[in-house]
Amino acid sequence: MGLLKKKNNMIILGLGHFVPEDILTNKQLEQMVDTSDEWITTRTGIKARRIVKKGVACSDLAYNASKNALENAKLDPIDITHIIVGTFTSDYCAPATACVLQAKLGSKKCEMAIDIAAGCSGFTYGLELARGIVFNKPEAKVLVVGSEVCSSRMNFKDRNTCVLFGDGAGAAIVTGHMNGYPQVISQVIDIELKTIGELGHLLMVGLEGGSAEPLALGQRVSEKYFTRMKGREVFKHAVRNMTEISEHILKKNNLTSQDLDLFIPHQANYRIIEAVAKKMNIPMEKVFINVDRYGNTSAASIILALSEAYSYGRIQKGDLVLLATFGAGFTVASAILKF
Ligand code: ACO
Repeated sequence: MGLLKKKNNMIILGLGHFVPEDILTNKQLEQMVDTSDEWITTRTGIKARRIVKKGVACSDLAYNASKNALENAKLDPIDITHIIVGTFTSDYCAPATACVLQAKLGSKKCEMAIDIAAGCSGFTYGLELARGIVFNKPEAKVLVVGSEVCSSRMNFKDRNTCVLFGDGAGAAIVTGHMNGYPQVISQVIDIELKTIGELGHLLMVGLEGGSAEPLALGQRVSEKYFTRMKGREVFKHAVRNMTEISEHILKKNNLTSQDLDLFIPHQANYRIIEAVAKKMNIPMEKVFINVDRYGNTSAASIILALSEAYSYGRIQKGDLVLLATFGAGFTVASAILKF
């Protein structure tokens, strides 16, 4: 097959993921804040999350996930032409984590490397950007990564947030050119995005330390540096918006939820996932869950889940898969993949 004819088409050549080995359980969190395994499990479905060792940065997790994706795609780092990293926990303000990753991988032919700050929708937003790139340059090989060291932006004295998040990364390599890639994994049928900046105040990170409230030399960070969230409000908007965008993208593509083989929603909270699935009439057997083991890994969440689902054999050739994400911004995204 030659160049893909349809404007929107893009194919995935490889998927990969990586999580740090250290596990932080609910029982361990009981020793750190006033919480209980029972509260966390019943309210969120989370049992454990992975946490990096001191000194491990976002680019390190991104590197391991990218290596895994390259291996699965049977490609070398030198083949990569563009790198997009979705994250809210970049190594530095500058350079971008994507540039750090490019250097670590040795992707010497890389033309563009950028970070995207789209909260938990960072990977899906990145996929849409990649779609634009491969439309203009079908031969491009774009490495799209979601990587987070959420623990670096957690206040481990705030029980409202620190029990919810974890660290991890996932990566996908996409192109618009099918020639010579027998290992094509899936086709990206469509992507839809939405932004609701008016509600950004409900979930914020770094209320201090940015240009709106810069830190002075020698000033110590306060709790405003870490993740803050109006959980109940976020919950409501997450359910409503993930449902709406998912129903819309299905309708636009003349599909219904009955056509889906697997639904992979953002892994923030089991109850959010269950509520979205119920509203969309999708049985839980058709919903992929790993929030119990990893918590909310923000931009890494959806690609970590997609890569795991694929590598565990939960996705078979011919399957139709729907992704849905919701994150700080608010950012909302949905994608349909055909395997
Ligand atoms: N352990 C024990 N008690 C807790 C804990 C905890 N870890 N955290 C909060 N509480 C208490 C609160 O202090 C509050 O107590 P109060 O009523 O005495 O003030 C009470 O529990 C809160 O209860 P609810 O509001 O009923 O809790 P809810 O059922 O809404 O669950 C939760 C809270 C889990 C945060 C939920 O709202 C949620 O998951 N929201 C969405 C969060 C999320 O997923 N955000 C990210 C999505 S977007 C993104 O990923 C960036």
